[in-house]
Amino acid sequence: MANQGKKVVVTGGSGMLGSWVVKHFVEQGYEVLNVDTRQPEEPVSPTLIVNLEDLGQTYGALAGADAVVHLAAIPRAGMVPPEATFRNNVMSTYNVLEAASGLGIKKAVIASSESSYGICFAVHPFGPQYVPMDEAHPQLPQDSYGLSKVVGELTADMFHRRSGIQVVSLRLGNVIPPEWYERFPLLDA
Ligand SMILES: NC(=O)c1ccc[n+]([C@@H]2O[C@H](COP(=O)([O-])OP(=O)(O)OC[C@H]3O[C@@H](n4cnc5c(N)ncnc54)[C@H](O)[C@@H]3O)[C@@H](O)[C@H]2O)c1
Repeated sequence: MANQGKKVVVTGGSGMLGSWVVKHFVEQGYEVLNVDTRQPEEPVSPTLIVNLEDLGQTYGALAGADAVVHLAAIPRAGMVPPEATFRNNVMSTYNVLEAASGLGIKKAVIASSESSYGICFAVHPFGPQYVPMDEAHPQLPQDSYGLSKVVGELTADMFHRRSGIQVVSLRLGNVIPPEWYERFPLLDA
């Protein structure tokens, strides 16, 4: 298979989105290492238990990888106190990109969010400045989760300038796994 011998580290691979991403890369023939603080419900690749807030652990976890897909995060506002969300998400993204750059990894994908625009978790509600919204729309978060995603994108820009690593920051919308589809019935036309 074309991808045999290529290794992808997926952080947050025990999570909702990550478990699908791990499965996809395994199906494509990649060697996959899931890096998370917890085991997945259904293991399809090896899992290394790592706290990505620790740079040493992050270096160890990424060593030997050809690419990294960084999905690990506290995935929305309000789950834990705001500063804990900010610290976890900002430091884990920094450490993943610091380690990837230091190890000479050439490609990374990181999970940003539509929440970086600030509309989703706004304390003082506001709407888009124009629609359809695009990448040029200002990011105006009022919450630490949205801010952590803006900082993540800026961190990616910085490491690209420093090491040349290619980083794609995906501003993901709401992720719905198939088992939740019935919660979102189609409206009658
Ligand atoms: N779920 C959504 O609708 C949505 C929307 C936009 C963006 N995102 C982003 O997509 C990514 C995945 O979201 P999800 O919904 O699958 O979240 P999830 O909580 O299901 O999975 C995240 C995983 O990251 C792990 N993790 C968190 N902090 C860690 C750390 N310091 N070290 C190691 N592992 C850590 C958790 O244990 C968990 O398994 C996140 O970055 C999230 O911000 C999600």
